[in-house]
Amino acid sequence: GATLRQLAQKAGIRIGTAVNSDALADEAPYTQKVATEFDSVTPENVMKWDTVEPARGTFVFTQADRLVDFAQAHGQLVRGHNLVWHSQLPSWVTDGDFSATELRDILHRHITAEVTHFKGRIWQWDVVNEAFNEDGTLRDDVWLQKLGPGYIADAFRWAHEADPKAALYINDYNIEGVNAKSTALYDLVARLRKEGVPVQGVGIQGHLDVQYPAPHDIADNMARFDKLGVQTAITEADVRITLPASATDVEAQDEAYQTLLEGCLLTRRCTDFTVWGFTDKYSWVPGVFTGEGQANIFDENYQPKSAYTALAQDLRLA
Ligand code: G3I
Repeated sequence: GATLRQLAQKAGIRIGTAVNSDALADEAPYTQKVATEFDSVTPENVMKWDTVEPARGTFVFTQADRLVDFAQAHGQLVRGHNLVWHSQLPSWVTDGDFSATELRDILHRHITAEVTHFKGRIWQWDVVNEAFNEDGTLRDDVWLQKLGPGYIADAFRWAHEADPKAALYINDYNIEGVNAKSTALYDLVARLRKEGVPVQGVGIQGHLDVQYPAPHDIADNMARFDKLGVQTAITEADVRITLPASATDVEAQDEAYQTLLEGCLLTRRCTDFTVWGFTDKYSWVPGVFTGEGQANIFDENYQPKSAYTALAQDLRLA
């Protein structure tokens, strides 16, 4: 049958996956699936700060370059992930006792160096990742504490200066439906755009769990962003299950994947649907949620699961 990539192309969106660089280098079936099933890729880890700038002013792009080369060789676009985040920061950033001026300079240089390095080769950048708390206030991380809320607008301006053609995204989780967090993000994006800050997209991660109801108002939520004139994307879809999985769990997982994809298909400016890894063999879930797993659309032996078929069916009908 047709691959997801072929079906997505007909449906007018990109279908992407997060890529584990070790598996891409070492495992033929992994590499083959990335190449044939997807037309967009996101580095799962290798563009993050701790990899890219492990020591102040020392930039290491080896693994990220390899992925970008792979993508170009296979006609794929790249989502750059990410520039500003509270996590996966090297200790020289978190423990360094920098003044606000110094830290602002460090952030500016980091963004400029990374975006410039990949200039012209990144389709969408997750410029700011996970900046919000669940109640809609800004996360009290090192950036907010030392630089104040203006770090967000600064980050977008600096990224835009370095690569004016890349689409710049703000990305977060638990913003699939209409809630305090997604509304705060909406208000921020509306204000930034009014002020002329170059924010072009909103990334909805889509990390779901079958034990919570799927976000059935996702299309309504995405519609309000669409009306603002911003692009949207589902950037990190996966649906975890408490193991062992029952038949009901598997059905709920298929439906949750479809709910996310349908949100994108129903939204005019939604550009892509990306899964956060495609095989249960490599997933961040079991390491973080004890007793949970099987969150992806292929099993550990690279066989497509019913979630894969459910997505394919939605793409066929689009
Ligand atoms: O690279 C080191 C390695 O040197 C060391 O030996 C090993 C020992 O634990 O750790 C390795 O680092 C791990 C890294 O993944 C690379 O494998 C980290 O411990 C581990 O915490 C890290 O997890 C990643 C996580 O982000 C970090 O927060 C996951 O792979 C990645 O899937 C996950 O992705 C995030 C998105 O970026 C943002 N949204 C949520 C999503 C899921 O948490």
